[in-house]
Amino acid sequence: MTPALRGEKLSRTFSTATGDVHACVDIDIEVAPGELVVVRGASGAGKTTLLNMLGGLERPTSGRVWVGDVEATSLDEEALAALRRERLGFVFQSFGLIPILSAAENVELPLRIVKTPPAERDRRVAEALRLVGLAGHAAQRPGELSGGQQQRVGIARAIAAQPHVLIADEPTGQLDSRTAATVMDLIGELVHLQGLAAIVSTHDPLLVQRADRVIELHDGRVTSVGGAAPSRSTDGHGDRDGDLDGEVGSDGDGVAEGATDAAPRTRAEARAQRESEA
Ligand SMILES: Nc1ncnc2c1ncn2[C@@H]1O[C@H](COP(=O)(O)OP(=O)(O)OP(=O)(O)O)[C@@H](O)[C@H]1O
Ligand SMILES: [Mg+2]
Repeated sequence: MTPALRGEKLSRTFSTATGDVHACVDIDIEVAPGELVVVRGASGAGKTTLLNMLGGLERPTSGRVWVGDVEATSLDEEALAALRRERLGFVFQSFGLIPILSAAENVELPLRIVKTPPAERDRRVAEALRLVGLAGHAAQRPGELSGGQQQRVGIARAIAAQPHVLIADEPTGQLDSRTAATVMDLIGELVHLQGLAAIVSTHDPLLVQRADRVIELHDGRVTSVGGAAPSRSTDGHGDRDGDLDGEVGSDGDGVAEGATDAAPRTRAEARAQRESEA
């Protein structure tokens, strides 16, 4: 089975006035479809550098990146940009929304760029907003939404183009811990229900619980790779149809405590889907 995203011996060295900074050193990493990988590490550990290399936003000093079966590191800038548009969705710490556009228009923008036909665009925008629990907020501008809602618009924008991989660099860094947890749960649900691969960086130990796998970075090196934390849960929102309407992450109180068996079931489903495609 081909991983959705793979980095092989990725290194990035920055030359500075005070000498070389080894931001990432020989990092091997894989993310499978339907898997949520969290990259954890202190400030300066190399998380952003790693995610930027994996997302084709920054060239590694050495090493290779594959997105599915395409070697991203062998592409020229134009082909790399096309690969990013077609296969990758990005979520940013600062949301990255355009203030004068409504939530729906923000989600629509990348689809306009790739010239998705209008009817299909409308359908995908509505579906993406529904998936993040913001169907009723389509007309509001970012300034009229809470931080958590803005980040959900950011996630809707990232998934509207139906990427294979979601790359999120501290997507909850500007949110309070409760809202951060709901946003992370939403990402987990999208990954497990839709078979998306996701790699998410965070400082927050609580958010690490949502991961299928945790990669710990220290001074640019992987110091440990852990499996799923036993307490991980998607809080029982899992719905076999991937129907995430209603309260998914809505306004911070939609995420109930108490896991049901939905999470393992959906993970098993995701795995089954992966294997049937292998
Ligand atoms: N463009 C650059 N030029 C020089 N050094 C850089 C550059 N970008 C990053 N670095 C250095 O590389 C190291 C890793 O930085 P990076 O931004 O990847 O860390 P991070 O784990 O994302 O940190 P944070 O949690 O603060 O976002 C740091 O020492 C940083 O100073
Ligand atoms: Mg960073």
